[in-house]
Amino acid sequence: MAELFIKSEIIDRSMEEDIFSEVEPFRIKMVEPIRMPSREEREKCLDEAGLNVFLIKGKNIFIDLLTDSGTGAMSDRQWAGLMMGDETYAGSRNFYNLEEAVQDILGFKYVLPCHQGRGAENVLHTSLIKDGDVIPGNTHFDTTKAHIEHKKGRAIDCTIDEAADPYIDLPFKGNLDLKKLEEVYKEYGKEHIPFTVVTATCNSGGGQPVSLQNMRAVKELSDRYGIPVCLDGARYAENCHFIKVRETGMEKHSMKEISRMQAECFDIMTMSAKKDAIVNIGGFIATRHEEIYDSVKNLGILFEGFVTYGGLAGRDLEAMAIGLYEGLDEDYLKYRIGHVRYLGERLKERGMPVLWPPGGHAIYLDMKEFLPHISPDQFPGMAFCAHLYLESAVRGVEIGTLLNGRDPDTGKNRPAKLELVRLTIPRRVYTFKHLDYVVKAVLKVWEKREQIKGFDLTDEPPVLRHFTAKFKWAE
Ligand SMILES: Cc1ncc(COP(=O)(O)O)c(C=O)c1O
Repeated sequence: MAELFIKSEIIDRSMEEDIFSEVEPFRIKMVEPIRMPSREEREKCLDEAGLNVFLIKGKNIFIDLLTDSGTGAMSDRQWAGLMMGDETYAGSRNFYNLEEAVQDILGFKYVLPCHQGRGAENVLHTSLIKDGDVIPGNTHFDTTKAHIEHKKGRAIDCTIDEAADPYIDLPFKGNLDLKKLEEVYKEYGKEHIPFTVVTATCNSGGGQPVSLQNMRAVKELSDRYGIPVCLDGARYAENCHFIKVRETGMEKHSMKEISRMQAECFDIMTMSAKKDAIVNIGGFIATRHEEIYDSVKNLGILFEGFVTYGGLAGRDLEAMAIGLYEGLDEDYLKYRIGHVRYLGERLKERGMPVLWPPGGHAIYLDMKEFLPHISPDQFPGMAFCAHLYLESAVRGVEIGTLLNGRDPDTGKNRPAKLELVRLTIPRRVYTFKHLDYVVKAVLKVWEKREQIKGFDLTDEPPVLRHFTAKFKWAE
């Protein structure tokens, strides 16, 4: 498998020999027992879930790498913050703490809390997208794409071509291709492009970062065409870390300085705070433009709640304000990125086809190499996840053709450029030893890979089908 990997390995400056890329920078004060279900139980659970690991109860999972969203462990300070919740309907002090944190870390003046990332997308997209509009971006996340299509718009992927090669070792595989972007701008013009979206790091593209240089170029180009740029910033802090350690001249800046420089490239930000603000629920829209804030705030009230709570309790706003700082802490980020990289390196050493370099929040396995005998229409990533669960009670998630959905015009499956399984690492939850167990689990599936069959759909919901679809083993 080694020949798959192209170019020398990226060495992140300042990560080498840094203690926090090998050791947790926290102590454990409270534990949650986890249980290993027996093989018979696992078989029954999978069967009852229609072979879709999304539908397995959490209590039957040993190590849950389904998502890093809302699954992080809050700190003692965040838990203390919960006790300081001001549950005033309008004007809760926790809202002002959040607003101040966003202004301080990101520099956006206006902040509209929302219950989570897709709540923010719903409000923003309903306000800005009209029938026939296009939204260019770098491999839009599934909820982003689904919301765009729900508003009768279309997402156009302008990611650099190299991102489609899982083994090219490049520092910023989340970057947008400016030529592709400009072609879209020329073809549709600002009348049909309400905004461009940059997802950093890029979840559906392997958790790969976007460089500051690229963001600046996107902003400059978009300004020339009069098109606002929106940061899908769920993992904005992890992206800042990559900028610091990989981009020339950036190592001397603090994380907050980098975050401010990054945010300056954007007019709007949608945030799922369940990732880099390390809360179990929360999100927001932020912008520097009063007119954009005015256009979203009424829909915010309609869909989410009054402008100072947005579907959240005061205590959630407080935890989010504190978490924004913790998620941007330099030592925490060294640990976080080092922890994810540890899993990637252990798998790669054992010859596993791992998307390279490792992403910020997850390790992605290339199913085209792992299960080449299963066609995209039979969802190799789903078959892998089923076997990983059967072998080890570890839960991963398909990021491939099932997630990609069907083409709204032809009704056919949209085969994914990259057919992946994501092993997503929750923040501050699992130890390095847990990751060693995951490596063993993947190797067990690898040994059996030739006998693994694909899936046939038996039940397919019309939108976001991957969450609740059911399957049978293909003949
Ligand atoms: C890049 C990105 N954007 C938006 C979202 C949606 O956020 P939420 O799950 O909070 O609705 C996610 C969730 O995983 C994401 O990864």
